Amino acid sequence: MKIIGTGSALPHLVVTNDDLSKFLDTNDEWIRTRTGIQSRNILSTDTITELAIKACQDCIKNAGISVSDVDYILCHTIIYDAIIPGLSTFIQDELGTDCPTLDLNAACTGFIYALDIADSLIKAKKAKNILIVCAEETSRFVDWTKRETCVLFGDGAGAVVVTEGGEDCKFRLKTQHTDALICGANYGNSPFNKVENSEPYLYMKGRDVFKLAVLNSIRDMEHVLKLAGKEFTDVTYFLLHQANMRILDAIRSQLALSEEKFPHNIEHTGNTSSASIPLLLDEMNKTEQLKEGDVLVLSAFGAGFTSGACYLKWGK
Ligand code: ACO
Repeated sequence: MKIIGTGSALPHLVVTNDDLSKFLDTNDEWIRTRTGIQSRNILSTDTITELAIKACQDCIKNAGISVSDVDYILCHTIIYDAIIPGLSTFIQDELGTDCPTLDLNAACTGFIYALDIADSLIKAKKAKNILIVCAEETSRFVDWTKRETCVLFGDGAGAVVVTEGGEDCKFRLKTQHTDALICGANYGNSPFNKVENSEPYLYMKGRDVFKLAVLNSIRDMEHVLKLAGKEFTDVTYFLLHQANMRILDAIRSQLALSEEKFPHNIEHTGNTSSASIPLLLDEMNKTEQLKEGDVLVLSAFGAGFTSGACYLKWGK
């Protein structure tokens, strides 16, 4: 499987750390030193559906294909405008295609899970050109009165088109239940169910997430490199989920690898959950940082606790 196109879209509103300090007991120094984040884009008058569609249109154009060439849409989002129908159906409608669509939720690891599903669909000859879009409105599941979580996140959408051919991709996916990251859901008003509606906001045990992220990321990357018969030193770039610069730095220093191998853009995106890797991929693709034959290892981790890695060769 190979990636033949990338696309992305960010909300127009930029929110800096100083903007947050106007209504939160926080400051630029605390946020920047602990997370690396300077600003993030937050949905305001634009919607996650619009963002997802823009990223898909950008991606299809970059892939040099037409909408009719897309024969499957995989959409990853944690929270959006409706429970049913899925966001993928709104995207399909706007794109004007009638291919099968599927919505999935694997939290911040969603892009890796979607790549693995696409790889299986292509190998099973069930699809040839698959559009994967990760569209996240994290600003909707954080409590904007809680400084320990809301400063970490941003909204955004990233997309890729994958197709048959290229070198075999290698995957490692893992889930082990934890309560370190939870966002409650509405229980509805059934007269037979007396469960109270839970807080529909993110609860995070920051230090536990830090430890799980570092441990799982390194283990997953070791696994896919072993499957590919490669060493860490053979990798051109490691694209890690842009959760927090401290996590990325901890992983990189444990592996004793140079900073150049770990591109990052969290400074200006914040943590966009599953969209973070496709957003970074698109930025690197559009600025021609990626060259034919580059060896990439993608690694993501998140609520569940889910984690996953993908080994792939860049090239059309
Ligand atoms: N501004 C100022 N002070 C703050 C803020 C803030 N935004 N948030 C917390 N604090 C304070 C706390 O109140 C506490 O003060 P106290 O000691 O007087 O009580 C102090 O800072 C330390 O708080 P901690 O939560 O212990 O801060 P910590 O040093 O653990 O840093 C952080 C928090 C950055 C989240 C850290 O736990 C971390 O890096 N965790 C990794 C988790 C992560 O990055 N998650 C991202 C989303 S999940 C994902 O994408 C997989």
